[in-house]
Amino acid sequence: MSWKTLDDMDLRGKRVLVRVDINVPVENGRVTDDTRIQRIVPTVHDILAKGGKPLLLAHFGRPKGKRVQDLSLLVVKPALEAALARKVVLAETLEAAETGTEEIAAADVVLLENIRFHPGETANDPEFAQRLAGLGDVYCNDAFSAAHRAHASTEGLARLLPACAGRLMQAELSALEAALAKPERPVGAVVGGAKVSTKIELLENLVNRLDLLVIGGGMANTFLAAMGAQLGKSLSEPDFFDTAKDIMAQADKAGCRVLLPVDGLVAREFAAGADHEVVQLGPDTVLDDDQMVLDAGPDTVELVQNAFAGLKTLIWNGPMGAFEIAPFDTATVAAAQAAARLTRDGALISVAGGGDTVAALNQAGAADDFTYISTAGGAFLEWMEGKTLPGVAALGG
Ligand code: 3PG
Repeated sequence: MSWKTLDDMDLRGKRVLVRVDINVPVENGRVTDDTRIQRIVPTVHDILAKGGKPLLLAHFGRPKGKRVQDLSLLVVKPALEAALARKVVLAETLEAAETGTEEIAAADVVLLENIRFHPGETANDPEFAQRLAGLGDVYCNDAFSAAHRAHASTEGLARLLPACAGRLMQAELSALEAALAKPERPVGAVVGGAKVSTKIELLENLVNRLDLLVIGGGMANTFLAAMGAQLGKSLSEPDFFDTAKDIMAQADKAGCRVLLPVDGLVAREFAAGADHEVVQLGPDTVLDDDQMVLDAGPDTVELVQNAFAGLKTLIWNGPMGAFEIAPFDTATVAAAQAAARLTRDGALISVAGGGDTVAALNQAGAADDFTYISTAGGAFLEWMEGKTLPGVAALGG
């Protein structure tokens, strides 16, 4: 890794522009999960301890270059102040940050209003980036989860000011390097979720790098149906049957074992507590037209648990069934708990991230035992797809 960290920077008396990702879920005006906020605390504290003055740059939602009151960072400010255990002053406009009101001048920590209110942000407009650069002496990027965006505050700024990675960026990069770039082998992954179509590049990259790939969730139906199974009204993508076959062939060639469900929980309605039965799954399976597979079954769970026991490293992305409605969370919960147990025993390095994954692992009570849980959704996927993330590349990585 060739990027600088806060340890390499002299911050005494310096204004530090810190790109953070505090794009957190909010309901009825309250933050419902403050994980991303908690995870930037070490960076802000370290900057303050080194005598720097942090000005936080962040986005919230996708306001498309316009001021949208519902997407003001004001709603996140109380949670941020609680996590940092200090007052944060919101600079409502770029002009206010530039001229510096008395309150802004006196503040320890300043938060600039939603950076995406400016069209220059997502356009990575050089003039806008230059204007932002005028607000600081040093740039620190702590937003791995936004590093797949080549925006002014995630990419442009790194080229205009002395730049370094924040603590969370460092932690994300080293955990993900350990999981995929230089893993302890054998290395495997669970890839679940609804659709193959959104994860083709991920699957293609993984089968060429891993020893084991467990495919779960709705996307497993597409693989089974491509092999001939008739799965009633199960979620499946016929347009991707050829892709699924191609991925299986690539895996075979690369020596990656693909584990598809050998049984499933099958129901006639998608509802919590719906009547269901365990059905063996394979190329010859024929379900009734109104039946659907909603979760992997007990034999699959056992196979997965046994396969985990042979691994040294595990990457987890996506649930293995319709985990949001019981009992169709059973396979996800059981497999996640097995991974957590192996990790606790020191036998496994487990790294998870992306989309619904963290919610599923939290539901399984397994998240705390995983070696590393990424804060990233889309950026985690792009990293696992083997793509270069512009925000990381701009740091010199
Ligand atoms: C995320 O929530 O994954 C990041 O904050 C990036 O958000 P975006 O997809 O709107 O760029």
